[in-house]
Amino acid sequence: MVIVVEAPDRMLGEVLPPGDKSLGHRALIFNAVASGKARVENFPPGADPLSTFTCLRNLGVNMAYDPGPPPQVEMKGAGALGTLQEPTTVLDCGNSATTLRLLTGLLAPQPFLSVLTGDDSLRSRPVDRVIQPLRLMGAQIWGRRGDRLAPLVVKGSRLKGIDYKMPMASAQVKSALLLAGLWAEGDTHLEEPAPSRDHTERMLRAMGASIESDGARIKVSPLSSPLNSLSLPLPGDISAAAFFLVAGAVHPDAQIRLRAVGVNPTRAGVVEVLQQMGANITVTECAPLGGEPVADLEVTSSRLRGVEIQGGIIPRLIDEVPVLAVAAACAGGTTIIRGAAELRVKEADRIGATVAGLRKMGIDVDELPDGMIIRGGKRLRGASVNSHGDHRLAMAFAVAGLAAQGETTIDGAEGVDVSYPAFWQELERLSRPRY
Ligand code: S3P
Repeated sequence: MVIVVEAPDRMLGEVLPPGDKSLGHRALIFNAVASGKARVENFPPGADPLSTFTCLRNLGVNMAYDPGPPPQVEMKGAGALGTLQEPTTVLDCGNSATTLRLLTGLLAPQPFLSVLTGDDSLRSRPVDRVIQPLRLMGAQIWGRRGDRLAPLVVKGSRLKGIDYKMPMASAQVKSALLLAGLWAEGDTHLEEPAPSRDHTERMLRAMGASIESDGARIKVSPLSSPLNSLSLPLPGDISAAAFFLVAGAVHPDAQIRLRAVGVNPTRAGVVEVLQQMGANITVTECAPLGGEPVADLEVTSSRLRGVEIQGGIIPRLIDEVPVLAVAAACAGGTTIIRGAAELRVKEADRIGATVAGLRKMGIDVDELPDGMIIRGGKRLRGASVNSHGDHRLAMAFAVAGLAAQGETTIDGAEGVDVSYPAFWQELERLSRPRY
């Protein structure tokens, strides 16, 4: 699908972003192995969380999806280890690496055989990052191309705790190992190069697991009794809200209010960086939702300046780098983004594709192996750009189109369906305010 975006005269209004996708996956997966009933409110409506829903149903979990609005899931956990059922079909994770990697950790200690796969993009993304440490725990897992790629075969086995230094900051790898560690013999100790999002630690703790953490070091102890089910409302997804934050900051006549957004500090790096760039963003704290801090965010047209984005903040804004690159293109001066090589193995190569798109729009960008240097300040020029079917690239280019002169044509625009199916309607609504 191709979408054409043009700069509107004005951007005005309020947005309630979809429920947080990272939290949606976790709420379903953890409740699937908890004892009791749970209701997950404001469940994210994208295809990715629905992939998790379908996989869990194929593992025998009793669950129902109500599309709402707002969408919600009611479910009954399987309880103790051994009560999930061997799937009679291949578990299809679609485009969702969170589904694939977390389920691999969940299934490694389950006493049956499972096969996991995904779409073309997911089948080209590395899973050795979870297979290797899980094997150290005693797991039996095989994959394609020297056990690096899905489809994967997981044959459940008895696991033991490990002491493991992760080569990259990754909440998906950390979460897979924490899940496996719940049913291993002995404690599991993990260390990350820098702290990644801590949703798993917060939610599992709230369900009764023993998890200690001190930033980048985490310890999980085996469960002595099943997890307790947890009903929760999910806050809005900051990774979805980020597109409107940047849109409001770079558009010359904008005022956008984003309601009930999750602002967990391990996720909210985008707000900090935009504020450093000079964005007018007001953060109004609200009551927490589902054990996560929440705020209303309001952004107005801003004069941005270039910054350096590197080091420990990278994992706290990893999914927002493409849209931050758009902010940088509209900012005066130079922005340097480094230490973000992980972007090369996302749904698409987000460094290569962002650089290519911004260059087509007339911006002077250098590509680095682990980031980019953007010399901003010149008005973007509408162009035809390829999102490679990647949701975050399609939305980032749409924001670039809002600030550009002329038309911007985005190829692969249907990609947004995995995380934010209402994105194009919301953009249209904000761009045609009623007075
Ligand atoms: C996620 C972790 C991040 C992020 C992804 C969601 C999660 O991936 O990019 O969109 O929910 O745990 P990595 O763990 O590969 O960094």
